[in-house]
Amino acid sequence: MDYEKRNTRLLSAFLVLVSICILKGGRSAEVIRCKETDRQALLKFKKGLVDEYDVLSSWGSEESKRECCKWRGVGCSNKTGHVISLHLNEEILDRWHALGGNLSDALVDLRHLISLDLSTNDFSDNEIPEFIGSLDKLRYLNLSYCSLKGKVPGQLGNLTNLRALDLGNNYGGLMIQNLDWLSNLSSLFHLDLSSSSFTEGLKTVVFQKILIIKSLKELYLGGCSFPNDTSSVDAYVNSTFASLSVLDLSGLSLTSLAFHWLFNISKSLLSIDLSSNELNGSIPDEFGQKLVSLENLDLSYNEFEGGIPKSFWNLKGLKKLHLSSNNLTGSLPDFVGTMVPLEILDLSDNRITGSVPESFWKASKLEVLYASNNSLEGTISESHLSKLHNLKKLDLNYNSLVFNLTPDWDPPFQLEFLKLASCKMGPRFPIWVRTQSKVSQLDLSSANISDELPEWFWDSLPRLEFLNLSHNQISGRLPDLSSKLSGHPLLDLSFNEFAGLIPSFHPNTTCLYLSNNNFFGSLSFLCKSKYDELGLLDFSNNRLSGQIPNCWENTAVGILDLSNNNFSGEIPDTLGYALLMTLHLFNNSLSGELPSSLKNSGLLEVLDVGSNMLTGNIPAWIGTNLASLVILNIRGNNFFGSIPPELCYLTQIQILDLSRNNLSGRIPLHCFKNFTNFVQKSSTTPYGVLASGYSYPIVYNVVDKVVVQWKGRVFEYSKTLYLLTLIDLSSNRIEGNIPKEIFQMEGLVSLNLSRNHLKGNIDQAIHQMESLECLDVSRNQLSGEIPTGLGTLPFLAFLNLSNNNFSGKIPSGTQLQGFNASLYAGNIGLCGPPLPMCPEDYPDPLSGHNSDENDDDAFMKQSFLKEFYITIVLGFIVGFWGIIGTLLLRKSWRYAYFSFFDRIICT
Ligand SMILES: *[C@@H]1O[C@H](CO)[C@@H](O)[C@H](O)[C@H]1NC(C)=O
Ligand SMILES: *[C@@H]1O[C@H](CO)[C@@H](O)[C@H](O)[C@H]1NC(C)=O
Ligand SMILES: *[C@@H]1O[C@H](CO)[C@@H](O)[C@H](O)[C@H]1NC(C)=O
Ligand SMILES: *[C@@H]1O[C@H](CO)[C@@H](O)[C@H](O)[C@H]1NC(C)=O
Ligand SMILES: *[C@@H]1O[C@H](CO)[C@@H](O)[C@H](O)[C@H]1NC(C)=O
Ligand SMILES: *[C@@H]1O[C@H](CO)[C@@H](O)[C@H](O)[C@H]1NC(C)=O
Ligand SMILES: *[C@@H]1O[C@H](CO)[C@@H](O)[C@H](O)[C@H]1NC(C)=O
Ligand SMILES: *[C@@H]1O[C@H](CO)[C@@H](O)[C@H](O)[C@H]1NC(C)=O
Repeated sequence: MDYEKRNTRLLSAFLVLVSICILKGGRSAEVIRCKETDRQALLKFKKGLVDEYDVLSSWGSEESKRECCKWRGVGCSNKTGHVISLHLNEEILDRWHALGGNLSDALVDLRHLISLDLSTNDFSDNEIPEFIGSLDKLRYLNLSYCSLKGKVPGQLGNLTNLRALDLGNNYGGLMIQNLDWLSNLSSLFHLDLSSSSFTEGLKTVVFQKILIIKSLKELYLGGCSFPNDTSSVDAYVNSTFASLSVLDLSGLSLTSLAFHWLFNISKSLLSIDLSSNELNGSIPDEFGQKLVSLENLDLSYNEFEGGIPKSFWNLKGLKKLHLSSNNLTGSLPDFVGTMVPLEILDLSDNRITGSVPESFWKASKLEVLYASNNSLEGTISESHLSKLHNLKKLDLNYNSLVFNLTPDWDPPFQLEFLKLASCKMGPRFPIWVRTQSKVSQLDLSSANISDELPEWFWDSLPRLEFLNLSHNQISGRLPDLSSKLSGHPLLDLSFNEFAGLIPSFHPNTTCLYLSNNNFFGSLSFLCKSKYDELGLLDFSNNRLSGQIPNCWENTAVGILDLSNNNFSGEIPDTLGYALLMTLHLFNNSLSGELPSSLKNSGLLEVLDVGSNMLTGNIPAWIGTNLASLVILNIRGNNFFGSIPPELCYLTQIQILDLSRNNLSGRIPLHCFKNFTNFVQKSSTTPYGVLASGYSYPIVYNVVDKVVVQWKGRVFEYSKTLYLLTLIDLSSNRIEGNIPKEIFQMEGLVSLNLSRNHLKGNIDQAIHQMESLECLDVSRNQLSGEIPTGLGTLPFLAFLNLSNNNFSGKIPSGTQLQGFNASLYAGNIGLCGPPLPMCPEDYPDPLSGHNSDENDDDAFMKQSFLKEFYITIVLGFIVGFWGIIGTLLLRKSWRYAYFSFFDRIICT
């Protein structure tokens, strides 16, 4: 039996009864049944609430509203007239977090309450009130998703009639100090304490106290924290009584030691969720031997290795199998086909290899197949797919599969998801997609398609909400798309050969990636309609021109990338009134000053306006107002004046590029110590707040990769940008000494101060710059000797000291001899290898010399550094949550990929 159906049936049995009561109550409206005490209690309860959206407008003291049994969310007994249920959740109120305020103790007067559901509201000022313990008739109590915090009161133990207690998902706010009260709840069959914090007690003890409840059938402890117990559950848990059928132990840092008791816990388990733990080794055979009733098994997000165990063959009732995000290897076993009548098979993000066995394709009941990010190979033909009548979701993204389907094939299924990124589909556009009129998510990126987008495309897939056709060679022009696609569309057509003007889009479009095409013309469409939900616009690398439209006020735009186009005119001032987090205007023909409205963009993390014709002073408000800035790039403009000391407030900065302007004055003193990412070596700070996430409108989750390419060598800063830190002040007119503190920045990777008027010497402190890979101070007026510490920096791979007034001997016996002589040239007083020897070192003519050999060596080492440059590829994975009204926590939306190129030249 499907445990979910049973769940619904058992749990909601009396809720259904309650709603029948409400219906009956409705029909006999002429008889007022509402008890006056109940009415007063409800009104008093309402008083404590904050009802911002007026969802309780039917609750009133007016005569016309006397019948409280008809109030929204209130249910009365059809016998006694007493209020027996109060349900004020998202479903009833049509709104997530509809109510806030206080939970008044007036509830206590509703003595006959059987069922109380206040879930999905925002009671973040409240703890679970102790008085709730006096509602002793309660059978159902749901306070989930309420933002409640504080101690869970022991008075809950008075609710001895409870069948279902759901305190889950209060965002980690609830603290459970002891669980003694639980033993009183002898009728409990559903307990959800997900994401609570157990402040006392070991996991083992907690589980023991819970499993002692004989009646318990469904237990949810996902994401609970045990601050005082980081161990796994490894002790023996006396679970003789347990007859659990549903168990969620996800995200509890369980290790494989926990299997010892897990397999003895219950023979009747229908569903077990062990995802997001630390389980490793091979998947135990016991799943197939001891838990033979399993219908749903979730082992995703662990560290399992090896293959899928043969014992799974025993799990005849298995409907859902989640194995994604492990380290599974080997090929899909041949028996998979016969056990596949799971409804769901999720194998994505593993290292499964080989071709899909023939037997697999007989799984005619399969509804969902996710196998993205593996190494499956082979050819899939029409005959393979012909039995999958029930398939609804297919995700084979990022494998090496070849689809050999005739373009006008007639598939047996109607898919909702079709994701075949990087599978070989082309070169013709797969015309059969036209038959999939229910498809809402389509990903055919990197699929070797080299064709024109068919004209029927936009009209044949009316439910399409997510579309990724990027990285193909698809051509054509876009029609007016304002009534195409549906829902809250995300559209990625980047890296193709689309041309023409950019048309209007569906008004609820959330993300638009059109970069790297041949679009031209202006962006005038943007101001013609309202795009309230547009969070991301990437139009970079096209041939767009004209002024950047000026209608950004009150938009949700968080990421805007217009780099590498031909935009001209000024930067529009309304940009300061969007919710910008990254702004890329690199390499256009923009002029004028930075608009002062940008001082409102306190969320800005990336400000990239390099290679334009901007002018003016660097505004002080960049430092005072843009506290989140991680990347500031104004290189290649006409900024003048001195560097404002306020820039020193940018404590999160990692890339500071002010090069190729007309800046003058001195480098600010006592400033660089502020830059924590420069000062600390490999700080563990993630990529600014980009990594920590926002809830509206777009959530950035992960920084994917930063590749620093040096001609001949590639340095990959994978996953974490925080390893790359850079200061570039080159090609300005900056004068004065280089402040000593610059040479103390242990975390700085690249420093370019070349082509300025700097004086003084390189401080001895430079030996502290242990992360330094690139140092260029050429074409200044620096003098003094080269400090020996420079010769010992472990990562130094590029150095240019040329055209200064350095003198003395290049410290010998160090890596400094390995650099090409030209990088020391133009320093009259400098000598020693790789430059000619210092006068005092000329050898005694009697001893032999072998310096030719050394020179050859040095030349070999240096040759690859010719035309040295660094290219930085910043890749983001933008985790996108459609947060519209009630969708706040819906995990369903997928990841989108966003990347941009930036080029920072070191010489
Ligand atoms: C409502 O009352 C009638 C009789 O008064 C009873 O037969 C019926 O079962 C009740 N309905 C519910 C849902 O309790
Ligand atoms: C909730 O309680 C707090 C503290 O007693 C009080 O300041 C606040 O006004 C109350 N809110 C409402 C809506 O009554
Ligand atoms: C819980 O029950 C006990 C014993 O029946 C009673 O004394 C106590 O007042 C109750 N607590 C609450 C909060 O109702
Ligand atoms: C409690 O409410 C939440 C949100 O309304 C719902 O998802 C959950 O299923 C409910 N819990 C129970 C046990 O019915
Ligand atoms: C487990 O529980 C049973 C039944 O109460 C009891 O007889 C047995 O001693 C318990 N075992 C342990 C190790 O606590
Ligand atoms: C996966 O396995 C490979 C090879 O056994 C190992 O190098 C790698 O660290 C593993 N990855 C994880 C996430 O465990
Ligand atoms: C856009 O979204 C809003 C709010 O969700 C909705 O009312 C409106 O109908 C949508 N527009 C279209 C064209 O779907
Ligand atoms: C940073 O530098 C400024 C100016 O030098 C100074 O006033 C400030 O206290 C420093 N610290 C921080 C955290 O901004």
